[in-house]
Amino acid sequence: MEEKKEILILAIESSCDETAAAVVKNGREVLSNVISSQIDLHTLYGGVVPEIASRKHVERINYVIQEALGQADVTLKDLDAIGVTYGPGLVGALLVGVAEAKAISYAAGLPLVGVHHIEGHISANYIEHQELEPPFVCLVVSGGHTHLVIVHDYGEYEITGKTRDDAAGEAFDKVARAVGLGYPGGPKIDRISKEGNADAIHFPRAKVEGAPYDFSFSGVKSAVLNHINGCRMKGEEVCQADIAASFQKAVCDVLVSHALAAVKDYGMQKLVLAGGVASNTSLRSMMETACKKERISLYYPSPVLCTDNAAMIGAAAYYEYQRGVRHGLDLNAVPNLKLGERQEKR
Ligand code: KG4
Ligand code: ZN
Repeated sequence: MEEKKEILILAIESSCDETAAAVVKNGREVLSNVISSQIDLHTLYGGVVPEIASRKHVERINYVIQEALGQADVTLKDLDAIGVTYGPGLVGALLVGVAEAKAISYAAGLPLVGVHHIEGHISANYIEHQELEPPFVCLVVSGGHTHLVIVHDYGEYEITGKTRDDAAGEAFDKVARAVGLGYPGGPKIDRISKEGNADAIHFPRAKVEGAPYDFSFSGVKSAVLNHINGCRMKGEEVCQADIAASFQKAVCDVLVSHALAAVKDYGMQKLVLAGGVASNTSLRSMMETACKKERISLYYPSPVLCTDNAAMIGAAAYYEYQRGVRHGLDLNAVPNLKLGERQEKR
């Protein structure tokens, strides 16, 4: 049979607080990327409320998909497959996307390809860096994950390091709340840090004994809280910008040193950043400087592809589709899905 040249995938993402759909061609060309964010709603509660997230996904998903198909100027008949995030994430939120994808797959007779959310974040880089191919080291830093992943090939992942406690994004969010910046913390700390002195306060850079690529951010978070309490007890003013900048530098220092060590130890030439925290301006510039010095090629997506979106799921789904991965209508949401683990039907 003659091989079809163009593979069009409709991708759906609903693992947390963004309802998103995209149409992606051959894994690297985005024809549409529609994101309906619920951030404003969750800001009222200081964080994501799972029950509200699920309800909003149900309300918005059909509109988001129609919009994605419309903007790409395609109909279901033009598609080759449906890609969907089935884990990890909030179970009720994931179920909305998975149920929707299964319904479309059944109704339109299209193959279903379940995608791991982290694989999606990593694959966001294939969209904007057409020349990027594995192998490489990827630092995945998001609200729920901090992983150092060796990407041996498409779909072949080895997790060499991960956080022992808080994820990097989670630490940003908690520190932002403590200094009174509110939710979501990452972008707010990023912004206010530009007005602060990153060397004003020395916060700890944690190492995990015997695990050189693992992370721990609970210590730096506690150190920030202790610093704030100390200032208040002494009646001193708490300088939000200095705390934010010093905290951000402490976190980025660790991310840079661990990521570069992994690149060197694994004999790689390329370092890739992914996930919401990869849009942090300080992390990007510190990584740029360090990689230039070590002659390592650095890649990261533009901010809209760092945070949750469906285009990245479409890119990942394409490579899974090409590897022959197909899921049945028994595909379920897996809130703690491990990278590389599959619920597969070939
Ligand atoms: O990848 P993402 O959208 O969702 C997850 O899969 O978790 O990441 C969201 C996380 C949040 O913790 C948010 O505070 C953080 O990414 N974030 C940032 C920045 N933009 C988003 N952290 C630091 N600096 C930023 N500019
Ligand atoms: Zn994410």
